[in-house]
Formats: sequence, structure tokens, C-alpha cells
Amino acid sequence: MTLRQPQLTDLAAIFGIEQSVFGSHVYPDFFFRQAFDLWRDGFWLIEDETGAPAGYAIAAPSERPGEVWVLSLALLPHCRGCGMGRRLLEHLLARQAPRAERILLTVDPSNPAAALYRQLGFVVVGGEDDYFGPGETRWVMEWRGDNAAG
Ligand SMILES: CC(C)(COP(=O)(O)OP(=O)(O)OC[C@H]1O[C@@H](n2cnc3c(N)ncnc32)[C@H](O)[C@@H]1OP(=O)(O)O)[C@@H](O)C(=O)NCCC(=O)NCCS
Repeated sequence: MTLRQPQLTDLAAIFGIEQSVFGSHVYPDFFFRQAFDLWRDGFWLIEDETGAPAGYAIAAPSERPGEVWVLSLALLPHCRGCGMGRRLLEHLLARQAPRAERILLTVDPSNPAAALYRQLGFVVVGGEDDYFGPGETRWVMEWRGDNAAG
């Protein structure tokens, strides 16, 4: 398992992960090029034991000082359940923590990912029905250094 910042040559594979994980509800391919240019330290790739891209995460600063948002966290289905998601998110938090008083994300309340977020110290601070459109309810969860577990 390797964690690293993506190269330009990884972006097509990352977009492939995005499509495999999220179906039609995806960021467009050009978003990943823009993320690569804008948020180099917030864009991380995890590889499986064979060196193949397994997942990625993106975090970006908001216009409010000290605030960062996790925009995406995704692992290919066959790579889940063995700690890679936790490792990726822990790494992202560690990289962002020096510049972030608070790190935010949104999650579907029924998504098992919410349990991972709680384990890492995120707490629900808000929520909105139809956040991403009809029926797309999301919690807003927040991580602060002083909330963080372990
Ligand atoms: C969310 C995701 C990144 C987690 O990655 P993962 O490698 O499977 O997770 P890990 O093996 O590191 O598990 C960490 C914790 O997540 C939670 N979790 C992950 N999958 C779960 C599941 N299917 N059911 C219940 N809890 C689950 C558990 O709390 C787990 O901790 P535990 O092993 O101590 O019980 C991955 O499942 C994924 O890509 N899901 C689809 C995309 C997605 O929903 N992204 C988040 C959008 S907000």
C-alpha cells in the first residue's frame, strides 16, 4: 500500500476510479486536472499492493481562513474493508491540519463512511435535505484538531 501525490499520468486512472465508485454522479474528468493544479497538497492517491491505483482523496481550502473541505474520498470496491480508506483520510487530515482549524465534509447519513468519519473525530454540525438535489440529503461533519480521536 503506497500513498503519494498523483502525477499527471495518474489522472485518467483517478477519473476511472471516480466513475467506478460514483456511477453517473461524478466530477468531470477536467476537474481532476484542475485539482492537480490547484491543491497539490490536498490531492492524494493510494495504490494497492500491486502498485495499481486503488483510491484517491481531495481536500481544498475554503475562502474562510483556516477552513478546509474534503471534496472526495473513494476506493475501488475490491480494495475496501482493509483499512485503506482510513489510512488515506488520516493522511489527508495530517497534511491539512497545520493550516486548518476546521475540516468539513458532507456525507449521506446512510453511508457507512459516516462511521469512519466519526472514528476519526468528525462530528455532525449540520444537515440539509436535498443538499445535492432532490433526495440527496447530506450531513455536514466537522473535524477540529481538538475533536480528533487518537
Ligand atoms: C468510504 C470508503 C472510502 C472507506 O474505505 P474502506 O477502505 O472501505 O474503509 P476502511 O477499511 O478503512 O474502514 C474504516 C472504517 O469505515 C467504516 N466502514 C467502511 N465500510 C463500511 C461498511 N461497509 N459498513 C460499515 N462500516 C464501514 C468502519 O467504521 C470502518 O472501521 P472498522 O473497520 O473499525 O469497523 C469506501 O468504502 C468507499 O470508497 N466508499 C464509496 C465512496 C464513498 O461513499 N465515499 C465517501 C463519500 S462521503
